This record gives sequence, C-alpha cells and structure tokens, in this order.
Amino acid sequence: MTIAKGLFITLEGGEGAGKTSQSERLASTLEAKGYTVFRTREPGGCELAEHIRGWLLSPDFKAPICPEAELLLFFSARRQHIEERIKPALAAGHIVLCDRFNDSSIAYQGEARGLGFAYVEGLTKALFSDIVPDLTLLFDIDPRMGLERSLRLHKKENTAGDGDKMEAMGLVFHESVRKGYLALASAHPKRIHIIDATQSKDTCFSEALTLVESKLACKRV
Ligand code: TYD
Repeated sequence: MTIAKGLFITLEGGEGAGKTSQSERLASTLEAKGYTVFRTREPGGCELAEHIRGWLLSPDFKAPICPEAELLLFFSARRQHIEERIKPALAAGHIVLCDRFNDSSIAYQGEARGLGFAYVEGLTKALFSDIVPDLTLLFDIDPRMGLERSLRLHKKENTAGDGDKMEAMGLVFHESVRKGYLALASAHPKRIHIIDATQSKDTCFSEALTLVESKLACKRV
C-alpha cells in the first residue's frame, strides 16, 4: 500500500524509554497490514551519518568535541540522511519510522548541553523546514528509571551501548533532556504526542499504533 507523499513518523525520548523496541513492533505490524516501512535512526541511517555517529557516541573515539561542533555534526549527519534515505522513501509513498530527529537536538544540545532551546530550535527550523514529521511519538520516562533500564539492558546484552557518551552524562543532564522534550510537546501539541513509557510495553504499543493509524486514515490513497 502506498501513501500520498509518504508518512514521516519520528520516535523520541530519553535513554531507556523503549523507543527502539516500539519502532520494531510498529514496523512489523504495519508491514503485516500491507504498508512498506522504512525504519531508520539518528544519528546514522546512511554511510556518512554512521561514521559521524561513531565520532559522536563511541566511547572509543576520545577526541574532544565542543557543544557547537557536536551540534553541527548531528546536523551534518541529519542532512545527508534526509537526502539519501528519508526523502526517497517518502517520495516512494512509504512510511518512515525514524528513531530520533530534530527534537533530540533541541532537547539534548539545546536544553541539556546548554546551547539554548530557542537557539537550537531556530537552527532546526532554518536548516530542516523542508521536512517536518507528520507525527512524533514522545516516550516519556523519569530519567532515573530510564537510565536504570538502559543499564540493565546493556548488562543483559553484554554491550557497552552505543549511546554511552550521552548515557554517562548523569542524572542532571538527563533531567534537562526531559524538560526540553516536555517543553517541545507543549509547544507542538498537534505533532508531538506523549506516551507514558512507564506503562507496560503492550499499552505503550497500542497507544502508538492508534496514533499512527489515525494519521494513516488521513493520508491513505
Ligand atoms: P542511541 O544509542 O541511538 O540511543 P537511544 O536508543 O537512546 O536512541 O544513541 C543516540 C544518542 O544520541 C542519544 O543519547 C541521544 C543523542 N542525540 C543527541 O544528543 N542529539 C541528536 O540530535 C540526536 C539525533 C541524538
């Protein structure tokens, strides 16, 4: 099934909010209903952006990165990802499920790193206004609980976790990330929908699916 101009959905939230497993489940459910789904993530999703991801997040890459350079690297990765992967998938009428997008930059670099919420939001508008998500699912969780969940998952999978540089930033940083996200949600109530990520996975999933299906109902050809 194709959708006019595709459907661009982003998933956002702090560490351990469970976005990735919700995105996997949404993709398989939508595919079973006959949609073509392109699942992707940021930073990453194409060759250049995956390299940049390594500089930004891998604990093995130890060179200093100042907050401004960090932001610009996230932006470079995003622009290439948009041109190479997201726009073509939308043009083909697919559903794009993207784990993180502009709202992450505003919450993490703008609010938590201290570059300024309004400053980073303004930059995202200037640079990426050609592509605005149709729907954003914000998985909200108290960072204390989210960080514990992440830690448990890394132990279970015996991984350090790609996002380690950010995870290692501590509670105060992650409280600010959450504050940034909640401010975004109240500024964009039509686009951003909060899902309480402390609920069961099934409840989160059915809320997410209902939101996606109501967007699809407006878009179907
Ligand atoms: P990832 O391992 O993908 O973790 P998660 O499962 O939490 O998404 O790590 C991505 C990290 O990058 C995460 O800590 C958030 C951060 N990030 C930013 O700080 N700014 C951004 O613009 C983006 C896209 C991500």
